[in-house]
Amino acid sequence: MKKINSLGYEVVFDDELDELQSFLIDHDYSQLLILVDRNTNDHCLPVIQAAIPDIVDYDIIEVDPGEENKNIDFCIGVWKTMLDFGADRKALMLNLGGGVVTDMGGFAASTYKRGIDFLNVPTTLLSQVDASVGGKTGIDLDNVKNIIGTFSQPKAVFISNKFLETLDDRQVLSGFAEVIKHGLIQDKDLFNRCKTVNLPVIPEGMVYDSVLIKNKVVLEDPTEKGLRKILNFGHTIGHAIEGYSLVTDVNPLLHGEAIAIGMICEAYLSHKINNLDIAELDELVDYLLSIYPKYNLNSAVYPELLALMKNDKKNEGNKLGFALLRKIGDCDFNKYVEEDAIIESLDYYQSKTK
Ligand code: GLY
Repeated sequence: MKKINSLGYEVVFDDELDELQSFLIDHDYSQLLILVDRNTNDHCLPVIQAAIPDIVDYDIIEVDPGEENKNIDFCIGVWKTMLDFGADRKALMLNLGGGVVTDMGGFAASTYKRGIDFLNVPTTLLSQVDASVGGKTGIDLDNVKNIIGTFSQPKAVFISNKFLETLDDRQVLSGFAEVIKHGLIQDKDLFNRCKTVNLPVIPEGMVYDSVLIKNKVVLEDPTEKGLRKILNFGHTIGHAIEGYSLVTDVNPLLHGEAIAIGMICEAYLSHKINNLDIAELDELVDYLLSIYPKYNLNSAVYPELLALMKNDKKNEGNKLGFALLRKIGDCDFNKYVEEDAIIESLDYYQSKTK
């Protein structure tokens, strides 16, 4: 049976929905709360309901989908609903959704009455390979991503490929950016396999291999004192672009689309500052540009992007901290980069997308 042991809990891949039902039967929770968004309510909840026929007693909490709703206002709504449902400290929250649901649900659960247990059943590729595992929970504040949050581990994570069938191609591609990232930072072989994938079909076993890499890093450094920072490759610049796009664009970038841009810029910085070979820079940039849409950046927005980067959690004092590649499959962290170089990397992205 495919399972990965994480920080005191299991990530279950085989017979996962049967295992979910067994988990619910075996544990003596006072109440089951299922957090969904509109999409997972329509497309994923019926799958769960069919798979756990013995569990009939639960309450549903629904939030609006989309990163723009991962904020304190929606979180208050979740807390209030938990109160209205009379949830006590022995209630269990089941987060059924993508990164927004697992991040915000984990945060709401980990703070409600000083913390109740929660499970993650991630339904997007993004949350399967990244958000649902590792214990980061959180919400955005203004357009600063994940700036309020906790490290709180779920009691278990159940990953089912049935849900990937419910996703549109753009969502799959967005999640795939995190798979590519795992290859770039830790496993050149995985990166090479990514290049052979016939998107949007994700080959059997790739989600598992990707979680394995993330989990190895997380086990070594659960609270991001050091090594875990490599999981943020592409995210210092990517989060700023994502935050900017969220408040500016009618159709904002998805997380992975922004991270792909961030990885291109930060690969450039890796070449400039961290000895990433030019051939590897070209290889990974050409690949990312071949699968992700080009985004129209212009230098007038750089000050706003830099201001967003200054709020990044990896910074120390005034210094902007980056995870930078040494080569494909090998990444350093705590690399502090001057503003001029960051601007150069944004110019580099623009030059590549003209
Ligand atoms: N998404 C990066 C991490 O979990 O550390």
